[in-house]
Amino acid sequence: MDKNFFITTPIYYPSAKPHMGHAYSSIIADFFARFKKIDGFKVCFLTGTDEHGLKIQRAAEKKGMETQKFCDELSKTFRDLSQTLNLSNTDFIRTTEDRHKKSVQNLWNELQKNNEIYLSKYSGWYSVSDEAFYSDSEIEEINGKKVSKISKSAVEWVDEESFFFRLSKWEKQLLKYYEENPDFIKPISRKNEVVSFVKSGLKDLSVSRKSFSWGIPVPKNKDHVIYVWLDALTNYISALNYPNINDDKYKRFWPATIHLIGKDILRFHAIYWPAFLLAAKIPLPKRIYGHGWILSGEEKMSKSKGNILDPIEIIQEYGLDPLRYYLIKEVSFGNDGNISKEKLEDCINSDLANNFGNLCQRVTAFAMKNCDGKIPDNIKFLEDDLKILDKFKSNINQIRKKIDDQDINFYIDFIVNTLFETNKYFNDQEPWNKKSDTSRLNTIVYTTLEIVRKICYMLYPIIPQSSINALKIFGINENEIEFSSLENHLYLRENSKIKKIDILFKKVEK
Ligand code: ME8
Ligand code: MG
Repeated sequence: MDKNFFITTPIYYPSAKPHMGHAYSSIIADFFARFKKIDGFKVCFLTGTDEHGLKIQRAAEKKGMETQKFCDELSKTFRDLSQTLNLSNTDFIRTTEDRHKKSVQNLWNELQKNNEIYLSKYSGWYSVSDEAFYSDSEIEEINGKKVSKISKSAVEWVDEESFFFRLSKWEKQLLKYYEENPDFIKPISRKNEVVSFVKSGLKDLSVSRKSFSWGIPVPKNKDHVIYVWLDALTNYISALNYPNINDDKYKRFWPATIHLIGKDILRFHAIYWPAFLLAAKIPLPKRIYGHGWILSGEEKMSKSKGNILDPIEIIQEYGLDPLRYYLIKEVSFGNDGNISKEKLEDCINSDLANNFGNLCQRVTAFAMKNCDGKIPDNIKFLEDDLKILDKFKSNINQIRKKIDDQDINFYIDFIVNTLFETNKYFNDQEPWNKKSDTSRLNTIVYTTLEIVRKICYMLYPIIPQSSINALKIFGINENEIEFSSLENHLYLRENSKIKKIDILFKKVEK
C-alpha cells in the first residue's frame, strides 16, 4: 500500500508581514512533513496566503495601494519566510490564483445544486479582523465599543442581502461524526469545545457579501462575492486540483491527513469546513489539530495587538535551527506558551551546544586520534552498549505512533534523554583509559558514533540543516536519511573514513 501524508498549515492573511505565530505553525508542520518523508511516505505539504475579503481590502486601502499589488507584495513576504524557515513545503497556494478561484466556484455550484444555499438577508455583527459573524450573545461592550467576547476584536453591524448555507441542517450529522471519529479534532479539550458549541445549536451561515467586491464572484450573481472563509478553506482541495477528482494528486492526498491550525480558527475548520464537505459529498479530512498560542506576556501575539516578535530578527541574531528547536521543544505542543530570548539562549547553550554539539565534537576528535580517523572495526557489544542502542530499536514503532498522535513532547523528550544518557555513557566508559584493550575502545567509539547517527536522524525533522551538517562526519547525505534504519545497530561501515566537522552551535555569551 502507498504511504501518503498530506499536511497543511492555515493559509495566512497577508494583511501585514508574518510574525512568530505564523512561523510557529509552519515549523511544526514542517517537522511532521520531514518526519514522514524520512519514514518513507509520499508527502504533500501545503501552505500559502488567504488574500480575499474586507480585512485585506481595507489593509490595502490604508496603504493607498491597489489591492492585488498589495497582496502580491505581502504574499511574497510569506513565501520568502517559508524559505527562511527552511520549510519542505511542496506547494504554496494563493487564493487569488485562477486554479483556486475555479475550484471555489465549482464547490459553490455543487452546494447550490444540492440545495444547500439560499438567498436571504443578513442582519448581525461582523468582525473584519476575524472575518467572522457573531451572534448577540457572543458580543460584549468594552470602553463603549462592541467587541467579540472570544477574540476581543471590534465588530460592526451588517445589514445586507446574502446567500446562506444550510449549516443548521448538519448539526446532528456533525455531532455523530465527532462521536464516531473521536480523533477527528485534537487535542481533546478543543474537541469538547467544538462539541458543546455545536450542541448549543447551529444557525445557517451567511456565505456571501454584497457591500464590497474583493473576493471571488458568486457564479451567476456578480453582485455577491463568496464569504472569505468558504473561499479560504477550499484551498486545501484546490491545491490538489479539485474538482478534478480523478487527478493523481487528489486521489493520492485527499482526504488530508492533518490540518494543522491555531486554536483561534477552530470553529471554521472543525464545524464549517466539515459541513461544507458533507454538503458537497466530499470526504472529510482525517484530523484537525488546533495548537495553542504563542503568548506575549499574557496575551496572544498578534498583528492586531502589535505585540509581535519578528522571526527574521531572531533568526538573524541566533540562527534558524536554534529557533526551530526552541519552538518545537519549549512550547509544550497543544498548549499556549510564552517565549523569551533568555529561554532561547538557555536552550542553545545547554541542549544544542553542550549536549548535542559537544558530543559530536568529542567523539569525532577521539576517533580521529585513537581510531585512525575511521569507523572502528572489531566490534563486540556488551550490555552497556546495547542498552542505549536497543532503546531506538525497541521504541521505533512507539515513536511512529506518537508522531501519528502529534505527541511532539514525547519525541523531543526521547532525544533529550538519550543525549543525556549518551554523554554519561561516554564519560562512564572512559575510552581514554582503554588504550590497551582495542576491541573495547573500538566498541565504545563505534557505539557512540552509531548513537550520534541515530540522534541526527531523529533531529533532522527539527533542525534539518544542523543534522545534515553533523552527518558529514559519516559522509551521509540528506537523501540517505531513513528512519527505519534506527533499528540497525551496525549501520556505520567499519573502516570507512570519518570527517571532522565545524562547530555546530556557538554558545551564547550571557
Ligand atoms: O486566520 N501563536 O490567518 P491568520 C500561535 N487566513 N500561532 C499563531 C499565532 C500565535 N500567537 N498567531 C497566528 C487566518 N498564528 C486565516 C486562515 S485557513 C483556511 C485561513 C498562526 O494570518 C496559527 O496557525 O490570522 C493561526 O491559526 C494562524 O496563524 C492564523 O493566521
Ligand atoms: Mg488571525
